[in-house]
Formats: sequence, C-alpha cells, structure tokens
Amino acid sequence: MANYDFIKACYGDPVSRTPVWFMRQAGRYLPEYRAVRKNYSFLEMCKKPEVACEVTIQPIDIIGTDAAIMFSDILVPFEPMGLDLDFNPAPVIANPIRSREQVDSLRLDAAEEVGFVYDAIKLIKRELESRQVPLIGFCGAPFTLACYAVEGSGSKNYPTLKEMMYSDPALFSDLMRAFVVVQVDYLNRQIDAGVDALQIFDSWGGILSREDYDHFVLPHMKSLFSQLKRTVPIIFFIGNNAHLLESQESTGADVMGLDWRIPVDAARQRLGNTPVQGNLDPTLLFAEPQLLEKRVIDILRRNGNKPGFIFNLGHGITPKTPVDNVKLVVELVHQYPVGE
Ligand code: CP3
Repeated sequence: MANYDFIKACYGDPVSRTPVWFMRQAGRYLPEYRAVRKNYSFLEMCKKPEVACEVTIQPIDIIGTDAAIMFSDILVPFEPMGLDLDFNPAPVIANPIRSREQVDSLRLDAAEEVGFVYDAIKLIKRELESRQVPLIGFCGAPFTLACYAVEGSGSKNYPTLKEMMYSDPALFSDLMRAFVVVQVDYLNRQIDAGVDALQIFDSWGGILSREDYDHFVLPHMKSLFSQLKRTVPIIFFIGNNAHLLESQESTGADVMGLDWRIPVDAARQRLGNTPVQGNLDPTLLFAEPQLLEKRVIDILRRNGNKPGFIFNLGHGITPKTPVDNVKLVVELVHQYPVGE
C-alpha cells in the first residue's frame, strides 16, 4: 500500500505537504471533460466504466490534485431503488416520494444492481497505480437523498421534504432507514472494489436547525456509520455546517468536511484533534489571483500546521471556473511549508 499524504492526513498523521483535492473536480469547467461529455448523456457516462475512468483521471493529470474521486453521482442508486431519475443537467425525479406505499416499495438491494460503479473503481485503480494517487468513493447521506427523492428536484429549502418530516415523522424515518440500508451496502461494496477512502455528502443537512438535525437525522447517521467496514478513512461533508459541527463529529467519521462559512481555526478549536477538510468558497476561484492567493494562504495559516488537514473547497467547483485558478490553488497549497 502506497504512502499517500492524503490518507495520512485523514488519520491525523504528519505529511510531507498538505494534500489537496476539489469536490466536483471532474466536470464541465474542464474543456477535456466537455469534449467527452459531447458524446454521451451524463447518466451514460456514469454507466460506462471506461468513460467514467477517463474523466476521473483528467483532473489528476491536468490539475495535479492528490486524490481522485470516482466519476458518478450521489443519485445513481435512485434508478435501481425504483425512482425515475433524469439529469437536465440538474436532477429531476419523475415519481417523487409522497406516500407510504412508495416508501414501502423502494428496492433495498439497489447496491447490487450498480455493477458499473464497482467495475469503474477497478479500472480507475489500475490507471492510478502508476500515478501513485488514491481513489475516493462516495455516496449521498440519507437526508440529502431524501431531499431529492421527496422534492423531486433541487430546491433551496426543500419544503415538501420538511413538511413530511414534521407532519409524518414515522414515514420520514422509514424513508431514512431505507436509504441507510442501501448506502451501507453501496459503500461497503465500494470498499470491496478497492477505494482508498470514502466521502459521504450531506449537502443539504445545514437547512435544519441543530435541534432537528440531532432529532431527525443524527440517529440514522450513527446507524449508517456503525455498519460500515472501517478499513478506509471516511470523510463526512455537511453543507452549511457551522451550527452542526459537534453533531457531525459525534457520528465517528474520521474527517469533518467544512463549508466556507466557518473559519478553519474556529472549527478546529471546537473539534480538538479531529481531522478536517476544506474550505475555500468555490466562487473565490473566479477572483483575481491576488485575492485568491490571499484567501488560500489565510486558510493554511488558520490551520497553523496542525496535522489532519486536507485542503478542499467548501462546496463543489462550478462549471465556468477558470482552470488556471484551480491549478494556482494546488501550487499554493503544495508550496506552503508544513511543520516548523
Ligand atoms: O468530480 C467529482 O466530484 C465526482 C463526481 C460527482 C458528481 N456529482 C458529478 C456530476 C460527485 C461527487 C457528485 C456529487 C453530487 N451530486 C452531490 C453532492 C455534492 C454537492 O455538490 O453538494 C449532489 C448534491 C449531486 C446532485 C447533482 N448532480 C446536481 C445538483 C447536479 C446538477 C448540478 C450541475 O453541476 O449541473 C448533478 C449533475 C452532475 N453531477 C454533473 C456532474 C459532473 C453535471 C452533469 C453534466 O455534465 O451535465
């Protein structure tokens, strides 16, 4: 097993330089991605292991990040669960979940049906061997998946999902349990296929108060974490998480993903020695290089050479991001001295 700085940082061990990767690092901001994307729909790309492999490797060779993240989507398990999913490019579900009958008929063996994901992992691992770069697998957290499954699309506040949660907590809870079953199986199968680390995305967790996250969501997250094989490090990202840090940590995840709204030093003060990942505002990648550099160095300085730090964005890269600025961030992070 190679000696990856990224994996060392996940466990809080010393590194030779700060590891950096970007959420949504494979995507439309890269001309090389758009060239491949011309030939397929997004879901077709996810389902063809050779294509998924090709675009997973692109940011490693073009940007120089320290970890690859498999090309797929958190919503890929929806189809085999019985949800009619399409991307336009934003996700749309034609049969959103609104009833007890729909929750009860969800297929819980869905992770068995996405063999193309595990085939892609094996192909990607082979490609990464010569590059000496680890591979991150991922899934959506049950709450964020419930947001899309009930709302039927993206939304700012997910009112339909929240209405179900407060008015029929038993139904909401059963829906969360169904997602826990599928995601546990899905992540454990990704580990078996060879990923070196996992990230769980709770992109919309921050729409809830601390009290409601703890009451409605946290028990399901603890159940999920307790059923995972812990042979690889697990990063847990929650969007808009400043008020949820302690809840996030109580799941027992190895690394806390931070969004950009909380300064790294303030977060680390609350988390003790728990490793963290983050947290540049992705929109800063549109700034003049001087401002971008200032903000990148500020994050590194606030971390203060504390072990257990992975540089990332506070959320995903957006489609029009200038590629040169993404490369600049990698250079700045790699040049920043670690240790005394
Ligand atoms: O590079 C990587 O990070 C790996 C691939 C990846 C994608 N989606 C590819 C993608 C990952 C890890 C995701 C996760 C994902 N998907 C999340 C969690 C992270 C986050 O951003 O909060 C969420 C909420 C989704 C759901 C989703 N998929 C949305 C909201 C969209 C539309 C937004 C957009 O960028 O257009 C997608 C589509 C999607 N997922 C694309 C890609 C590259 C764009 C598809 C295209 O090429 O047309």
